[in-house]
Amino acid sequence: MQEEPMPINGCLREKYEVLRDLENPVREMISRHESKRELWFPSEFLPADQETNNEKELAELRRRAEGVSDNARVAIALNTLTEEGLPHFHRLIALNLGDGPHWTEWNGLWTAEEDRHGNILRDYIRDSRLMNFSVLDRLQFDYIRSGFYPAWSGDPYKVFVYTSAQEKATAVSHLNTGKLVADSEPLLYAITQKIAQDESRHYAFYLNVFKEIIARDPNAALESAAGVMPSIDMPGISMANFNEYADVVRRSGIYGPRDYQKIVEQLISSWNIGLLTQLNDIGRKAQDKIMSIPARLQKVAEFIESRIGAKSFTFDVIFGRVLEMT
Ligand SMILES: [Fe+2]
Ligand SMILES: [Fe+2]
Repeated sequence: MQEEPMPINGCLREKYEVLRDLENPVREMISRHESKRELWFPSEFLPADQETNNEKELAELRRRAEGVSDNARVAIALNTLTEEGLPHFHRLIALNLGDGPHWTEWNGLWTAEEDRHGNILRDYIRDSRLMNFSVLDRLQFDYIRSGFYPAWSGDPYKVFVYTSAQEKATAVSHLNTGKLVADSEPLLYAITQKIAQDESRHYAFYLNVFKEIIARDPNAALESAAGVMPSIDMPGISMANFNEYADVVRRSGIYGPRDYQKIVEQLISSWNIGLLTQLNDIGRKAQDKIMSIPARLQKVAEFIESRIGAKSFTFDVIFGRVLEMT
């Protein structure tokens, strides 16, 4: 089980120096992030005070939730569990970014923002009776207990490459899940869009941090990026039946290899990777590797699409219903 950061060698020490040197730009990014985002709370969507949470509202919520399709329910279960994996990510960020006050400040703020995502989705599922809640409870327990031990832990630069890609992937996933429920359940649609807005702002933060890292240490930055960008492990990978969940999500047009290819293309363009000059051999080799990733991802997507056939799925979390998907 790979876990703790490597012992500080020369290269890692330089990376931590770069991370410390980012204190001023990171503080500015945190202020910009806070000034742009509107702080919201789960109870604004689902009132929990006794006087406002009445039976009539709950009955109406449950009636609307009946119209949510089974594949959307599977996606919401996966999105919820992914969000509830927050302890893994809080730990990984704390472990990998060092103890500079700007990083602990960001980790606290980011964690507080993320915490609402799992909370609102769980509150919604519970109030609406959208799925088998005791099964969801068990899945969450097992997922958190099993941990998340990605290969990028141990290299702080890789953390920013992964989080940039991951925040964007999560935003896409919430946005597209929302589209599936927009007609039947406007409240759930509003929740998914609100979460997606947060994810997009987190994406902007991590993207800009890595831009600053490239400006300061381009060769090592590209070497780290080349190690992460070919494929990222989604956070729920250690969950039971993760592949079935991911397959339903892909077949539903919510998130799949084509989306990841687009994300990689956006990262390459935002970080100007193809235009970087004055690199050494390591940097140039990494640059070439990164620039070849989109074409390879396209081949992977075409291969998966060529093999796709009708398949049926069953998930206990949506009451054991059978999904027939093409
Ligand atoms: Fe989130
Ligand atoms: Fe996020």
